[in-house]
Amino acid sequence: MVEAVAQATKDGLVFVFDRDKGTPLFPVKEIPVPVIPALPGEKPWPTQPIPVKPAPFSNQVLTKDDITTRTPEAHKYVLDRFINSRHGSKYLLPSTKGTLFYGFGGGAEWGGAAADPNGILYVNANNMLWWLQMRPTKAENPFSATKGTTLFNINCAGCHGANGKGGQGAGAQAYPVLTNLGRRLSRKQISTILETGRGRMPSFAHISVDDRKAIVDFLLDPNIKKTNRAANANDIHNSAPGVVTAKNASYLYLPPYLNNGYTQFRDPDNYPAVKPPWGTLNAIDLNTGEYLWKVRLGEYPELTKQGIPPTGTENHGGPVVTAGGLLFIAATYDEKIRAFDSRTGKIVWEYKLPAGGFATPITYMVNGKQYIAIAAGGTRYGLKPGGYYVAFTLK
Ligand code: HEC
Repeated sequence: MVEAVAQATKDGLVFVFDRDKGTPLFPVKEIPVPVIPALPGEKPWPTQPIPVKPAPFSNQVLTKDDITTRTPEAHKYVLDRFINSRHGSKYLLPSTKGTLFYGFGGGAEWGGAAADPNGILYVNANNMLWWLQMRPTKAENPFSATKGTTLFNINCAGCHGANGKGGQGAGAQAYPVLTNLGRRLSRKQISTILETGRGRMPSFAHISVDDRKAIVDFLLDPNIKKTNRAANANDIHNSAPGVVTAKNASYLYLPPYLNNGYTQFRDPDNYPAVKPPWGTLNAIDLNTGEYLWKVRLGEYPELTKQGIPPTGTENHGGPVVTAGGLLFIAATYDEKIRAFDSRTGKIVWEYKLPAGGFATPITYMVNGKQYIAIAAGGTRYGLKPGGYYVAFTLK
């Protein structure tokens, strides 16, 4: 038997390698991808490495056929954006026109996958649409930008949106808007969040104290006196993008383009903009590269009531599989934790948590009794927050 390691990606692909040699167990081929240039100076690479097996576990290329038909109005709204944007492959280069694609939060998520010793991989997945648009920064005149604004736009705008005005489009509300921050947080509180991180907000302890102070100054007073201007145009040209220490004066460098943050594109009623399934759970036999089963994960109760088969929902949080043949996962909008029969994908039990369970459950044993526990923290997708650990016993 070959010992294997497998990686399920945000792209919805599974790469399986021989654990000792590092060689792929299923060939990985260089597949041609669109090379339509989008921004000046780009030289897109013509191929991407894609495994021939297993088949992708989430949608790959957006087509007109995928657009939601939930209501005629929703269809028209999404079709309009589809027609007026770049769309299709997730490997399209970001452009100023804007791209509608399956990307960012598609495929596998931070919860990871579960596996059992006979080589079955269980992975939950999302089919969400995202809207990525680049905007030139020229208009923002780097000579008048403060060190704080520039550092903010380089380090923080990817999540919080340009100047903190919010990165998420309609929907998930995952990243707080940071305007008028002074009304709810003190300088000390903001500095602490930057130093330690909080929840899914990463720590920025690697940025110098001075740079962090400049960012906090900007957040507390965006109109702060314009100091620390770029010395001359050469400084701007000579700094490398993505380098963020004050030491090499890179705050003088404003990249030529910035993106619009981590923005989902949803229909006007805030449902996903494509046809279901919106969330799935997959069992893949890594010995053969074939799917054992694929089911929808989660539902919108109000849609189910209208007679629409469960759609699956966007999901964050992974599965855990037991030797007894049960797979436990929460992760969905409907705030439920479910147990699936790991051989068939049939739901055998479900329970409504006190708040969304966007974490991976654990299993443990005390005095011969097996337990499943999950952190139900809620908050994602604009759902209510929670602060619970919930444990169940297995009989
Ligand atoms: C990877 C995405 C990401 C990046 C990058 C990021 N943040 Fe955050 N930020 C978050 C999330 C998510 C939260 C909410 C955290 C929570 O739920 O406790 C947050 C919360 C905050 C808060 C608290 C807001 C409130 O209303 O309580 C502040 C302040 C903040 N971020 C500032 C920054 C600054 C300044 C930067 C850049 C140095 C930054 N963030 C970069 C994701 C990010």
